[in-house]
Amino acid sequence: MVQKRNKFSSRFGFIAAAAGSAVGLGNIWKFPFEVGKGGGAAFLIIYLFFCFVLCYPLLITEIAIGRRSRKNPVGSFKAMKHPNWTFIGYLSVLCGVLILSFYNVVAGWVFGYFVEILLGNFDIGKNFETFITDISEVGGYSLLFMVVTAFIVSKGITNGIERASKILMPVLVTIMLFLSIYALTLDNAMEGVKFYLVPDISKLNIEVIYRALGQSFFSLSLGMGALITYGSYLKKQEDIISSGAIVTLSDVGIAFLAGLMIFPIVFSQGLDTDGGTGLIFVSLPGVFENMGPVLGIFIGALFFLLLSFAALTSTISLMELPVSYLVDQKKVRREIAVWISAGVIFLIGIPSLIGNGYSEFFTNFITYFGAEKATDFMTFITDLALNTFLPIGGFFISIFAVYVWKRRKLFRELSYGNEKFLKSWIAKYVGFCLQYIAPVVLGIVFVITVLEVFFGVHLFK
Ligand code: PFF
Repeated sequence: MVQKRNKFSSRFGFIAAAAGSAVGLGNIWKFPFEVGKGGGAAFLIIYLFFCFVLCYPLLITEIAIGRRSRKNPVGSFKAMKHPNWTFIGYLSVLCGVLILSFYNVVAGWVFGYFVEILLGNFDIGKNFETFITDISEVGGYSLLFMVVTAFIVSKGITNGIERASKILMPVLVTIMLFLSIYALTLDNAMEGVKFYLVPDISKLNIEVIYRALGQSFFSLSLGMGALITYGSYLKKQEDIISSGAIVTLSDVGIAFLAGLMIFPIVFSQGLDTDGGTGLIFVSLPGVFENMGPVLGIFIGALFFLLLSFAALTSTISLMELPVSYLVDQKKVRREIAVWISAGVIFLIGIPSLIGNGYSEFFTNFITYFGAEKATDFMTFITDLALNTFLPIGGFFISIFAVYVWKRRKLFRELSYGNEKFLKSWIAKYVGFCLQYIAPVVLGIVFVITVLEVFFGVHLFK
């Protein structure tokens, strides 16, 4: 029996789901600590440049490939009669699995914070290091998160993802706005704003560039076929150009807001901006405590609950990658595909779970060539999947779109739902970007990243 492929029931449903995939821990947990590591505004500027100039054209291209092929990333290249390019699809599924494996661990921490703050434990910020080594607790939260994700994905596209995203996204934006305004009223807040918005060019180096690139891809869920998958559920008459723009703007907007919220807080508490993965976990509870017990618990718990929601709409889309692959390509029943994926990914995530101080082996997992210190497992997976595989995925997608599938066909697909597209400056820009900017920039940054990160070869020092 041939089953009709599910479709998003409305334009809003698609935008909400795609924006839900994009907006997540990447914006609120990872973006601020990357800005902190990258020296503030210098990172922000490069990041914004990548999002708008490079990522937007790739984002609509991925959606167009998905809608054209009506398949998961692995099947899409075959369906478009270019089976040699199927490797991009396998890379995508692999990336999805690797990213979800550590993402789910951090999502577990976030949910754990929700519970702790709900119980009035504001000291959790000071005890972050101990908290993440309490494996039975954080492991339990992380398992719970995976189960909830699997449950929603098993309900199918329209029922699960759409319904969840429609409710969760607007709530998220409102609460973040409130917290940002509150943060601006704190002592020393302006120092944080300055750090975040006034660039110090001396902070710019090659590491800032490749980290900003990896972050922009990660944040927009790009370079790994998540949007090919979502595009495959999109109706022909929907406008990809404007939906893609809305997704990009909301994702970047929320990341920007997260920075505006965190840095005033970090400076008002005299914390180190280079606080790494713990930045939001260490800095925020103190702020909630200062709001007093009732308001503090209310706002604090709500914040971490909201962050759990944002993470959930992202884990859902990550899970959709292996699941749609198994359903389309291997003809596995959806429910079974979901629970197999959830189980395997949870297991792959265990080293990330215990590699933050609990297990010596996974905490000091690997020492790159020329590095002084060992790298933990989660950072290693981030370096591999996020800073390396995502840009290279984007590189191949741009080459595929213009040189193999051909610009004419891509543009035709993009023009369904937007008749004016073909004659617009956006079309000219997208064509130019995919043909020249994306392959050159992504190719060069990929080589530099691999040499710098893994082999300790510094070309620009
Ligand atoms: N974009 C998500 C975030 O910023 O949290 C992470 C993500 C989700 C990446 C889905 C990739 C993906 F397919």
